[in-house]
Amino acid sequence: MQLEKINAVRGTKDIYGENIKIWHKIEDEIKKLAYSFSLHEIRTPILEYTDVFKRAIGKETDIVSKEMFEIERKSRNLCLRPENTAGVVRSVVEHSLHREGPKRFFYIGPMFRAERPQKGRYRQFHQLGIEIFGDKSVYADFDVIYFNVRLLEILGIDNYSLKINSVGCPECKPEYIEKLKEFYKDKKQNMCENCQTRYDSNVMRILDCKNETCKTINNSAPSILDSLCENCSNHLKSLEAMLGNVAVKFEIDTSIVRGLDYYSKTAFEIQLSQLGAQSAVCGGGRYDKLVSYFSPKLDVPAVGAAIGIERLIMAIEAKKSYVAEPNFLDYYIVVDASVDKAGLVLIMLEIRNRGYSCLMNNGSKNVGKQFKEASKNNAKNVLIFGEEEINNGTISIKNMKEGSQKTLDLESFFNSLEGKNI
Ligand code: HAM
Repeated sequence: MQLEKINAVRGTKDIYGENIKIWHKIEDEIKKLAYSFSLHEIRTPILEYTDVFKRAIGKETDIVSKEMFEIERKSRNLCLRPENTAGVVRSVVEHSLHREGPKRFFYIGPMFRAERPQKGRYRQFHQLGIEIFGDKSVYADFDVIYFNVRLLEILGIDNYSLKINSVGCPECKPEYIEKLKEFYKDKKQNMCENCQTRYDSNVMRILDCKNETCKTINNSAPSILDSLCENCSNHLKSLEAMLGNVAVKFEIDTSIVRGLDYYSKTAFEIQLSQLGAQSAVCGGGRYDKLVSYFSPKLDVPAVGAAIGIERLIMAIEAKKSYVAEPNFLDYYIVVDASVDKAGLVLIMLEIRNRGYSCLMNNGSKNVGKQFKEASKNNAKNVLIFGEEEINNGTISIKNMKEGSQKTLDLESFFNSLEGKNI
């Protein structure tokens, strides 16, 4: 019977070999940067109740209405998280984390969206997210944006374009929505099907439609900047000034309205043109009301953003700004056929205990083949235990790069291993 081949699910990827190193590099840089911004890691479950996202992101959004991997249960449906702002908010409310003053979090992890896979768009992808709670000042918006810009710079990506907008607040947004409805009323029949639906469900999302006809119509749509209340307008101006102060290039783009409903005031995206159709590498903004959707009495302002790590890697690879080092093995033990290996296991373990990688040949009797095995493992050094070494209590060390060989007594060899940074 021939077994059917089973591959990874479409839109998901195995990450291994040289590729994993770029992930480690990014994760290391994120952790260092997060530390310097006093952001602390939070890990929430991948599996949440679907209601968490319905409540937070909005039932009419593409993510909730079309892209959730949902698991039907008799009691309450579950889903694989499509993003993690909602999960973090759920956690903050559940454990009253906001009580101890401003909370600053970061997370790295997989998200799941049932989208049609294409370059840069996957069904399982990973985000680095940061979320700051309890700080309504524009400094928090600035910190979120600057963190992401700085990460891109550290990773050698300098050709980003940062687009900023304000989507208003409950005070000024309703009036703007009315203006938009009025503007599109007699134009919507000429617009794409999506926009016709959005007219009723979320008229502001028409503004970021990529359809050429809709784009032309959008060019003369009323600008939110003319409808912002004083508070929102000042918030945006202060943010512009702060970014200007540190010479971060940005543009105000009123088509940045975001695909998730929870934003108020600041909304932003960082785009990389080299990514093609899926050019957004980072998106975020302020979501001052979201905590109250989970607990109506709570008034906890918040702001955050997420970077798509796969898109980040595409950009790093295109720029060739990171070259992964191959895996090396510190020590490979070659054993003469006459030698009892049991005792050598202790030596191998002692080497590992000191923080060095070590493998021992455990099959071939032929020393030549053992050396080939050492080369396959990229061994920097080969340790040779022949009859002579065993009789004299010594060890012969061959440096594979230089080809040199020396013999030491065991104590001197172990002394030479001191000081390894694990
Ligand atoms: P988002 O714009 O939906 O925002 O996603 C953020 C980033 O995740 C995108 O810019 C993109 O790089 C990446 N991304 C999204 N979908 C995919 C996909 N299917 N395949 C590959 N990468 C993808 C959020 O998720 C918000 N939670 C961001 C946020 C945090 N806002 C406030 N705090």
